[in-house]
Amino acid sequence: MMIPARILVLGSGGREHALAWRLAADGHHPEVLLAPGNDGAGRCFERLQVSETDAPAVVAACRARAVDLVVVGPEVALAAGVPDALIASGIPVFGAAREAARIESSKWFAKDVMRAAGVPTARGEVFTEPREAIAAFARFEPPWVIKAEGLAAGKGVLVTESSVAAAAFVTECLAGGRFGEGGRRVVLEEFLTGEEASVIAICDGERHVLLPAARDYKRAFDGDVGPNTGGMGAYAPTQRVDADVECVVSESVVVPVLRELAARGTPYLGALYCGLMLDEAGPHVVEFNARFGDPETQAVMPLVGGSFGALLASAAAGALDGAALEIRPGAAVTVALVDEGYPERVRGGGWLERLDDAESQADVVVFHAGTARAEHGWTLMGGRGAYVTATGVDVEAARVRAYECVGGIGGAGWRCRRDVGEAVAPAGGGRHRDGE
Ligand code: AMP
Ligand code: GLY
Repeated sequence: MMIPARILVLGSGGREHALAWRLAADGHHPEVLLAPGNDGAGRCFERLQVSETDAPAVVAACRARAVDLVVVGPEVALAAGVPDALIASGIPVFGAAREAARIESSKWFAKDVMRAAGVPTARGEVFTEPREAIAAFARFEPPWVIKAEGLAAGKGVLVTESSVAAAAFVTECLAGGRFGEGGRRVVLEEFLTGEEASVIAICDGERHVLLPAARDYKRAFDGDVGPNTGGMGAYAPTQRVDADVECVVSESVVVPVLRELAARGTPYLGALYCGLMLDEAGPHVVEFNARFGDPETQAVMPLVGGSFGALLASAAAGALDGAALEIRPGAAVTVALVDEGYPERVRGGGWLERLDDAESQADVVVFHAGTARAEHGWTLMGGRGAYVTATGVDVEAARVRAYECVGGIGGAGWRCRRDVGEAVAPAGGGRHRDGE
């Protein structure tokens, strides 16, 4: 078993705090560093003053500190080719190479891979001319699903019953420069119905194991209304993804995608996030991300047993050791504490009181994102400030615990969703892992 002694986690959000927290909990007590990290996480982990997108600086820092595994958090670091630079320098890295990461950064590339690999997904067409795209509405049933083809910070998708709104979005992307390069092509896609679930596969280019499936809450307000956000909370595991569904996800999604990318000469090594829509016809892929999900990771990490560092190091070496992963029983719920006006009218100036008290309670951990140390607690720096994650025997127990803690947090200028994990039936057991 390859056991990393010093691990560098790249990124600065709640996801990276959760990854660092879990890696540090491994039995062999690896030292975990963050670059650049954030103030909250910085209380427990050394921060390096290096940008996660500055490949030469990351390589230099790894050499200077004898880092023996790098774990990459955000997509921007993948798009900047940081894993490619680390590999070229002989530094083990768990994160997708730039070409393979196109499965996230180009929706049409992802569709092309899925078509070639026979992966179930929504039918789609790609356009560069507004008139052609609008004429194609007739070939799809409403509601229309329109996606900016490239990266759009999670905001590049419109689902609408209104052909006027759909046409306006297409025109803004293709003719108006909305989303810049990311909006120069749009994908028109068949609307899928069902329940969404997020499954993250740890991949070594050829083999994989699945982490417990999660459900995230993308909309801003209770009851799934309001604009899409970077994620207001999540729970794991989700009862909809039982052992049978996991087998289907492995065999009809992950394995074919890994084969197809390897055949194209760009093997996929890293976390492959499968955003799925589940219905009677089985799982269909809504999107892939080339990284750990945010905020799913904040709910999944407490459920990961075994040696997570050894698992990621084995994947980074191209020799996945699936036995390094153990899945803990129980469930976790994570609730995002965000600026009152998030996502569209962030006000700034909010603050959180007694957040540290929440953290000191049993079965609760707080992951920081956009917070800064202040005299009376923590100020919110913008969108998502921190996540309260609680564990319990099932989702309901974890949910009750999480909201008890949230109830004890004071301050002003922040809010959270109150319905994360609500009305979730107990999970039906099942092993949340699979291999080839
Ligand atoms: P994406 O960025 O591709 O994940 O899309 C954001 C959200 O839009 C998804 O989480 C879904 O809720 C919704 N969505 C995307 N594509 C579809 C589709 N083909 N059918 C139904 N809903 C979709
Ligand atoms: N939770 C969705 C994402 O990570 O993009």
